[in-house]
Amino acid sequence: MTTGYFFSHRHILDIEHLSADDIDHILTTAESFKEISARPIKKVPTLRGNTIINLFFEPSTRTRLSFEIAAKRMSADTFNISASTSSTTKGETLIDTARNISAMNPDIIILRHSFSGAPHMLSQYVNAAVINAGDGTHEHPSQGLLDMMTVREHKKRLNNLKIAIIGDILHSRVAHSDILGFLRMGSEIFVYGPGTLIPPGLKELGVTVCSNMKEAVQDADVVMTLRIQKERQDDPLLPSLREYAAVYGVTAQVASWARPDALIMHPGPINRGIELMPDVADGSQSVILDQVTNGVAVRMALLYLVTGNN
Ligand code: CP
Repeated sequence: MTTGYFFSHRHILDIEHLSADDIDHILTTAESFKEISARPIKKVPTLRGNTIINLFFEPSTRTRLSFEIAAKRMSADTFNISASTSSTTKGETLIDTARNISAMNPDIIILRHSFSGAPHMLSQYVNAAVINAGDGTHEHPSQGLLDMMTVREHKKRLNNLKIAIIGDILHSRVAHSDILGFLRMGSEIFVYGPGTLIPPGLKELGVTVCSNMKEAVQDADVVMTLRIQKERQDDPLLPSLREYAAVYGVTAQVASWARPDALIMHPGPINRGIELMPDVADGSQSVILDQVTNGVAVRMALLYLVTGNN
């Protein structure tokens, strides 16, 4: 890490604006917090007196629960609002919701929203620190960070790795955060998926867009599979899920093309038998549940750092 480094981010809105030193500092902080979750009494007083609002306008299991667990393990007070129970159902705008929440003086607002850019907008209307828990097809920075933490834990480095990302890159905010993060840390990204689900501009970022599965996965250190995001497709971009699975699904044979010590990853939720076959998801190279475990540590680190701790 650069001498004199200081973590200066008020909000965590994306990976794009995090430097390699920022990422290294967040992961090192998360690594130091991880053991708290293994203690018999999983609680430290670090964020006592802080108020944290989970504002989730899209469904979530892992992200919402792990932010709440992270906050509670650090003794913060947490409150959850979902779209169906908020006054947005009565026509209130996100900005009005934000202003009203801000009037109650929370310290951190964690936002998941279908609109790309919603956390950036929110951050301009509230005094609290804002953490993006996934915005539309834009970014999911805490997922990108927990993915990097998991790879660093197993590979002991984040540079000079071949990362293969397979599937729906276009709609995946996880893929966008992972691509930016792993490139920034000095690894190479190879993507493969249906042409309709590969966004423009990847080559300009330095990503290799592959024309077949073997080119993407051969000798990879990490094979990351992604869910087809049917909820973000107005018109079908695929002939059928059965055909998708036959061409783009990661089977044991596909996984065997990667390095023998390659990691199999998936951000969840998995569509078993479509983008990832069950024997691979549950196999010895899978670190999918390690990703979930590390999600709590990364989110503890983010809550700690945005409240001004270094
Ligand atoms: N990986 C992820 O964002 O999962 P959830 O949608 O369950 O939060």
